[in-house]
Amino acid sequence: MTDPLVRVDALTKEFTVRERGGKRVVRALDEVTVDVRPGETLGVVGESGSGKSTLGRAILQLETPSAGSVTYAGTELTGLRPRERRPFQRRMQVIYQDPFSSLNPVRTALQQVAEPVTVLRDATDPDAVARDALARVGIAGDRVHDLPRAFSGGQRQRIAIARAIAVRPEFIVCDEPVSALDMSIQAQVVDLLRELQDERGLTYLFISHDLSVVREIATRTAVLYRGRLVEIGPTDSLFRDPQHAYTRRLLDAVLVPDPAIARRRLEQLSTRVAAPVDLPPTDASAMVEVAPGHLVLV
Ligand SMILES: Nc1ncnc2c1ncn2[C@@H]1O[C@H](COP(=O)(O)OP(=O)(O)OP(=O)(O)O)[C@@H](O)[C@H]1O
Ligand SMILES: [Mg+2]
Repeated sequence: MTDPLVRVDALTKEFTVRERGGKRVVRALDEVTVDVRPGETLGVVGESGSGKSTLGRAILQLETPSAGSVTYAGTELTGLRPRERRPFQRRMQVIYQDPFSSLNPVRTALQQVAEPVTVLRDATDPDAVARDALARVGIAGDRVHDLPRAFSGGQRQRIAIARAIAVRPEFIVCDEPVSALDMSIQAQVVDLLRELQDERGLTYLFISHDLSVVREIATRTAVLYRGRLVEIGPTDSLFRDPQHAYTRRLLDAVLVPDPAIARRRLEQLSTRVAAPVDLPPTDASAMVEVAPGHLVLV
């Protein structure tokens, strides 16, 4: 089997939260071990607060792990000096849920796509590179000189995608990239991401609490619950034959024939913690392979 592009090994991330009357430690990730293989889309699902974004941010080195390591294409990223980290800032990109807050409101589409090209890529004409990237996502002509507020939500997400691809990355963390968009627009943006992956051999970590989108786009799916990886496997196998009690609960809640009901249940799931599921202590747990490549926490 080929080497993984990203290797996350026993990654733990704790946050200290100040509260009235003292401090509390939140363990957002608890010894998560997972690989992302070149060219695949690894879906990451789990309810709100399960650690999905923290996993993406820790891979991108936007969070410093409390323990464990992240290795990218054979180089351990944890502990690299800023200068050594620089090439990886080009090779790894991110697309967030809300392009309104990730785009600069006072810079044109062209300016914001050209900026990372100027900083991270050795291009003689960053504007030409930016125009190409924008044209690829469907934003062309004079529109490139418009500010974010002149675009629809779907178009703004296209600009964010153009900015991510303009520097020719290998790996993109997509953190709920379509969750804020209307259903019809969601499908278009998912298609665009898929086409770009095929054209450019991209690898995605695709975070979403929307299981139907993950089922459609992900090669493999990882399930996080309270910072733990409870199940991972080929998407078909995991959705057809979920093994962990939490995965079952997640799928039961949303895989109902009526999409409106599924959507409502999903919204409830993401805002309020589903009835808790017991987990074994970290030091006494193991992942067991139940089908080829399909592992469950026991
Ligand atoms: N900077 C931070 N400071 C303190 N706590 C944090 C911080 N970032 C995340 N957390 C906590 O870590 C846990 C995991 O958060 P994370 O954002 O990774 O969850 P998530 O799965 O992405 O949730 P959502 O679906 O709502 O985006 C949560 O309990 C969250 O409150
Ligand atoms: Mg999140």
